[in-house]
Amino acid sequence: MSQKTFYITTPIYYVNDVPHVGNASTTVASDVVARFKRLQGYNVLFATGTDENAPKVAEAAEANGMSPQEFVDDIVPKFKEVWHKMHITYDVFIRTTEARHKKVVEAAFQKLLDSGDIYKDVYKGWYCISDETFFREGEVKDGRCPNPECRKPVRWIEEENYFFRLSAYGDRLLKYIEEHPDFLGPEFRKNEVVSFIKAGLRDTCITRDAYGWGIPVPGDPSQVIYVWFDALLNYLTVAGYLQNEDEFAQIWPADLQLMAKDIFVRFHSTLWPAMLMGLGVELPKKVFAHGFWTIEGEKISKSKGNAISPIKLAEEIAAMSGADIDIAVDAIRYFILREVTFGLDGDFSVSGLIGRFNADLANDLGNLLNRTLPLLHNYREGIIPTPGPVSHDAQEIINLVTSTGAEVAEYLDKLQFGDALAAIWTVIGRANKYMEDQAPWKLAKDEACAAELNTVLYTVLETVRSVAILISPFMPSAAEAIWEQLGIDSPLTEAKWEDAGSWGGLLPGTQTHAPRPIFPRIDTKRRAEAPAAEKEKKMEQKAEEAPQYLTFDDFKKTELKVGKILTAERVPGADKLLKLTVDVGEEEPRQVVAGIAQWYSPDELVGKQVVVVANLAPAKIRGVESRGMLLAADTEGRAVLLTPDADVAPGAEVR
Ligand code: MSP
Repeated sequence: MSQKTFYITTPIYYVNDVPHVGNASTTVASDVVARFKRLQGYNVLFATGTDENAPKVAEAAEANGMSPQEFVDDIVPKFKEVWHKMHITYDVFIRTTEARHKKVVEAAFQKLLDSGDIYKDVYKGWYCISDETFFREGEVKDGRCPNPECRKPVRWIEEENYFFRLSAYGDRLLKYIEEHPDFLGPEFRKNEVVSFIKAGLRDTCITRDAYGWGIPVPGDPSQVIYVWFDALLNYLTVAGYLQNEDEFAQIWPADLQLMAKDIFVRFHSTLWPAMLMGLGVELPKKVFAHGFWTIEGEKISKSKGNAISPIKLAEEIAAMSGADIDIAVDAIRYFILREVTFGLDGDFSVSGLIGRFNADLANDLGNLLNRTLPLLHNYREGIIPTPGPVSHDAQEIINLVTSTGAEVAEYLDKLQFGDALAAIWTVIGRANKYMEDQAPWKLAKDEACAAELNTVLYTVLETVRSVAILISPFMPSAAEAIWEQLGIDSPLTEAKWEDAGSWGGLLPGTQTHAPRPIFPRIDTKRRAEAPAAEKEKKMEQKAEEAPQYLTFDDFKKTELKVGKILTAERVPGADKLLKLTVDVGEEEPRQVVAGIAQWYSPDELVGKQVVVVANLAPAKIRGVESRGMLLAADTEGRAVLLTPDADVAPGAEVR
């Protein structure tokens, strides 16, 4: 293996419950980095897994009337299923009940016992089973866990246990942190670690005697090894430590270990590096803690019933929008990394997610593709044209696209996911504006502008190709869907990160596929009226069951006419409505309000021939009078206006 390697880990999660959006956020962030590094050509080892030898897992098993082993065996496939559905591309899923891991834990324990870093003594103190953490007498003030994220009642414990000589490592840790400024991040959390160590480290108890569930202490099976001592070593097990020296030498030290702030200071920045120092193993290159998510302003907790399953949420989003479930999952992945600055706390709200879905994905990203591709099909039979001369505006887009890949890479290397996405959205925004400015639908009307039109279509679609690569670590299914519509021969999985920044990857002559909106907008009104909408749907279904025929005389009552759109403008305050004046062959043009603003820009409509229901009773829509209705096909949640096949005089009857 001569290729450069990149080893990234998530925490291994307790299997007392299936994953919620909180756990998903660390795993998604790690997956984005893993995918990005693969695109950069690294040989990535991305590990996640489950922490199974914990007293709280044994308690959960008991509560479910199962043995701990039965319980963990039952829940692990559910974890894996969630990760697969979330498009998590882990390479290794480690379970701490695996024999290979037990061997590593036993050997590490023995090594530290032999070197004198582990010794036996009496432990008197508090234990929080929820956090699986020991606390000193003075640390607990009110019988509750001092960790602000937990605050559950603690238990007093007096046992003869084994201890790890953590106190001997304080100075070495401080020196290491100072000499390796990139080791801990973000900076403000590093400072918390330094203060914690400076306050004085005490030796830590690393066995328990009261529980039968866990890895027994070598040579003293009355005790089991403390779950954190066991769990942290998973990172070494995965890398081949004490199993395959060559592999271990290639892969270790880990490049990036991600987690939230709850397990950063005491465990991953203090106990873990001290254990590694004791074992004589190099420290990971970077340990980084992100913040905590609340849900709709509340702490995530099983008892509050707000531990949202990311998959259930994706199903809801898919149902509300009509998007594929994989696309809904991508939207959640996007939201997790876009909504808050990675490292800080954030609030997860469904309305926030819907807001971003509609604004960033359906509007910005969706429009770029879903407005350009239909034009390509209308004017160039869906075939990518050879661009004409490059205008000043097109050159600006080219410059932006060719520099953004490197900029995004820099942000991703610094785990600034939000900034990375913002940089990609700058490209999307600029390309959308370029479209508006160039108005290809106008250029199409003038044969003399054919080369100019080719430049516009090519520039926008080539930008879309680049954007597909840049978003692929975040939204792999959406990127695939875009790639597929562009008709690019080589699969996206074979693309490299640098391809995003090299202009011209989209080959003229490529036959693109039928345009299909990837992110259909979520109708927020429908969501607010969800139960009513459900009822409506049921009534519609009932009506559908009995066929209902219309007599010809009934049909004749509908007056359909060809009209020509003379003017079009947005209705202020209504993002879906356009106010049109339509010539239907009468003395005065008709004013018609149509709910098509998501799919058509006003400019694009002027001059278009349409079919109008001319004898519909006048109505006021958002206070604006509407006299008539345009006919449109409803395809995949998008309205496509019906228009005559040849030029027809306004007012011609449709029969
Ligand atoms: N088993 C230990 C970790 C051992 S690693 C050697 C553990 N497990 S856990 O199931 O409680 O997972 C904790 C991790 O889940 C956090 O560090 C974080 O990665 C993720 N999160 C759990 N709740 C979260 C939020 N509310 N918000 C963000 N991340 C959350 O601790």
